[in-house]
Amino acid sequence: MKKSGWLYGADRKDLVFVAKTFKGYEDLLSRELLELGARDVKTLNRAVSFSGDKGFLYKACLSLSTALKILMPIARFSAHDTDQLYACATRLPWNEVLGDGQSFAIQFTVHSEHFPHSQFAALKLKDALVDQMRKKTGKRPNVERYRPDVQIDLMISDSEVHISLDASGDPLFKRGYRKETGRAPLNEVLAAGLIKRSGWDGRKDLLDPFCGSGTLLIEACLQHMQIPPGIFRDGFGFQNWPDYDEDLYTQIRNSRLDRVRDPQVSFLGMDKDVNALRKMHKNLEEAELLEVIRVEQGDFFHSEPPTGSGGLLLANPPYGRKMTVDAGSFFSSIGDRLKKNYSGWNAWILLPEEIGSIGLRPSKKFSVLNGDIACKWSGFELFQGSKKKRHAE
Ligand SMILES: C[S@@+](CC[C@H](N)C(=O)[O-])C[C@H]1O[C@@H](n2cnc3c(N)ncnc32)[C@H](O)[C@@H]1O
Repeated sequence: MKKSGWLYGADRKDLVFVAKTFKGYEDLLSRELLELGARDVKTLNRAVSFSGDKGFLYKACLSLSTALKILMPIARFSAHDTDQLYACATRLPWNEVLGDGQSFAIQFTVHSEHFPHSQFAALKLKDALVDQMRKKTGKRPNVERYRPDVQIDLMISDSEVHISLDASGDPLFKRGYRKETGRAPLNEVLAAGLIKRSGWDGRKDLLDPFCGSGTLLIEACLQHMQIPPGIFRDGFGFQNWPDYDEDLYTQIRNSRLDRVRDPQVSFLGMDKDVNALRKMHKNLEEAELLEVIRVEQGDFFHSEPPTGSGGLLLANPPYGRKMTVDAGSFFSSIGDRLKKNYSGWNAWILLPEEIGSIGLRPSKKFSVLNGDIACKWSGFELFQGSKKKRHAE
């Protein structure tokens, strides 16, 4: 062991946090953090570090749409094997973060040749914590995999051991509004980032013609109306911490809710499957957006775009092994339909890399992973008249 350090302390005003996100979303998360008022924002790999006080942590958990979880580092030390890990971890004052009778769980990420069995490293940390708590309090804390009171995060990189508390508890993509999922629902954090990438300025009407359970439209609506995405959740991990300040949390929650504004544009979801629409309806009910997002049953290939002077179409069309039609021709039919019927619109389509093209040239594209499917989030400008003529004008 080279160095050891316990970072947790109720007297520290400026706390350092690490927010995790998807690969490629770091810039979006940094921007969100800066807009929220974070200090010392630094972009890392699939994460962003920042500092702020306890109230800021509450605000960040409630408000960030592109963070998967927020960690508060509590200990950092070096260890070269599991015995050293155990020895260092038994010296940490675990009773400062784990109250009497509280359960815990350890999530882990290990990138180290010193620890070839990552699960074993996590097990050693658990033993150290349990042994030390038993020695100090005479009681053995319980490990609880499903919804523990305190979620501990272990990250080992080479011989550096980082232990954090997970302020989110359940990951932040679990917004609390999605009670029903369709066949291939988008992750909420992924959807929130896709909307930001589309550059939507909140002035164009939105249409999702393959809406499924409605994730893209609901996330767009939350952003537009400034509804904190975490507001529908049962709670957050930090609410089980010994220093949790309920009055402060209520104050922050209320001030975030005071910012909510009425919608300035219309939102329309369409799907050909009644069952998907039933699920979307349930989710809209949970998100209290039934009055805001209109839903219609319809087939994209046989329905006209809503009237008006063009809007923004966002779509996550079906794709995968269960498809009954040829995926290539399905996607090129989407391109044809957009070209013929949606002039004046902008469209963003989540396009599996394997498909490659819908027969239109995208004006912008971003690589994203939808689960394990490599995709391009591709933006199209569907000009009225030819592009040449428009440029000439
Ligand atoms: C990948 S899912 C969309 C999932 C959605 N983004 C979510 O988060 O729940 C694709 C959806 O497209 C719908 N769909 C397939 N073909 C369609 C068509 N021709 N017109 C309208 N909807 C269609 C399916 O019923 C399915 O709900």
